Formats: sequence, C-alpha cells, structure tokens
Amino acid sequence: MEISRLIPARSAAASEPGARPTGASQTARDRLVYRDVWAREGIRPPSDTARAMIDALAPSADGPRPHLADLGCGAGRHALHAARQGLRVTAIDHSAHAVAALQGAVDEERIDCCDVIQGDAFAWLRELTPSTLDAVVCFDSVHHSSADPERVEETVALLASRTRAGGSVLVTLLCDITYSTGERPPGRLLVGEEDGAALLDRALGGHRLLTDRRKPVRVARTTSISPSTGRPVPASYGATRVLRQYQIV
Ligand SMILES: C[S@@+](CC[C@H](N)C(=O)[O-])C[C@H]1O[C@@H](n2cnc3c(N)ncnc32)[C@H](O)[C@@H]1O
Repeated sequence: MEISRLIPARSAAASEPGARPTGASQTARDRLVYRDVWAREGIRPPSDTARAMIDALAPSADGPRPHLADLGCGAGRHALHAARQGLRVTAIDHSAHAVAALQGAVDEERIDCCDVIQGDAFAWLRELTPSTLDAVVCFDSVHHSSADPERVEETVALLASRTRAGGSVLVTLLCDITYSTGERPPGRLLVGEEDGAALLDRALGGHRLLTDRRKPVRVARTTSISPSTGRPVPASYGATRVLRQYQIV
C-alpha cells in the first residue's frame, strides 16, 4: 500500500506572491482526534446528494473519465463511490489514518483511477490550474480550513474557480457546532447557520444553485478533547449542515 504523496500545508501560499494561505497544517488536536475517529468508523456510505451528483457524472465505457476531487475526504466514502463509477478521483486528507483506510480499499478493489494524498487539500487546490476539475466534493471539511470567515469564504470560492464551466461543486458547511464536552476546537470556523449560509452565498453566488438544504446533524459518538484535562474523550456533537450544490458557470 502506498499513499501517493504528501502535500505540505502552506506550500501553495509560498508559491503565489501576495496569496494568503488557504489551509493550515493539521493541529495536534486533530491528529489525536481523527486517529481515533477513522480507526473506529471505517468507510461509511456516501451522502445521498453526493451519490446522485457522482452517478450523474459516471462516464460511458469508452468515454473520458471526469476528474473529481474529494477535499478532506476522510476515509473516502465519496471518493470510493466516484472511483467505483469510473471517475478519475483525487482524494486528499490530512489524517494518516483516514487516507490509509481509503488506500486499503482502493488496493483491495484494484481501483486504478483514485489518487490518494495525505496533506492539505486546500493548498493542493490553490496550486491547481483554474477551471481544471469536473467536480468537487467538500463535505464537512471546509470549516477546518480557518477560524476566519473571510478566509473560509476565499477557500469556498476557490472550489469554484478550479472547476470548469458546467462542472459541479458540492460543499457543506457545518454551523452552530456544539460539543458535549464544551470544547471549541482551535482553527475551526464556528459560525451560526445564517452567517454560514450567507458566506456560501457570497463565495458561490455567481454560479447556478442546484441544491440548497439545511439539516440538523447529531453525531452520537465522536472524539473530543476535554477542556479540563486536554485528553481525548468520547463525546457527541450537534450542528446544522448547510449543503449546497452548484453548477459552475
Ligand atoms: C468531518 S470529517 C469529513 C470527512 C469526509 N468528507 C466525509 O464526508 O466523510 C473532516 C475531515 O476533513 C479533514 N481535513 C480538515 N482540514 C483539512 C485540510 N486542510 N486538508 C485535508 N484534510 C482536511 C480531516 O482530517 C477530517 O478527516
């Protein structure tokens, strides 16, 4: 098993004069938390909206393979579904445990169209030539990119600018996140539902909105860091997921 390569955080910012970094290196907190989460969860089924978007992109037997990027892919539920449908996939996550789970599935199924990368997905995206991708899935991960709403807005706009006209962007933003431990993880965008929806409007408002949903999410078993001990502890969290799917114009 070989993970394709490592993308260092902030490499893109260094290569583009005047650019602000879009991503950040994985925090020590997230390394601990996601080691636990991805060891426990494995590969879950894809979300219904992502599945429908991916299925609509599936190539014919001899047609060209559309290129989909799954940014902050976790254990790769959307990447794997897309690769099984014959899309060319780039799947990126900070977490070594997440990408190892995905690479294991890719190897086991002898999939040859899925590039699995451990690193900063948003730095990778910034380095990409504009209008290159056919589709992007960025599911429950962009709020990790910065605590600053302006920077998250720039990152969301980047999803569209790296996708060709006619291509698809599926992005979700978790809002009103509340952990049972009372933790407020550093480096996270912690905004309310209306502010989150307005951020997505500003970042992607010029494109054709295909799906707009808001859904309460309750994750009964995750890992958090206890504010009192600084140690990983079992926890639950609640949030509102603002989901948007756009066709790029
Ligand atoms: C809540 S999980 C969602 C995983 C997956 N998208 C899904 O729907 O199952 C968030 C994931 O984003 C990853 N992540 C956060 N910021 C990232 C970044 N800058 N680059 C790569 N991965 C990142 C985390 O490591 C974590 O696996």
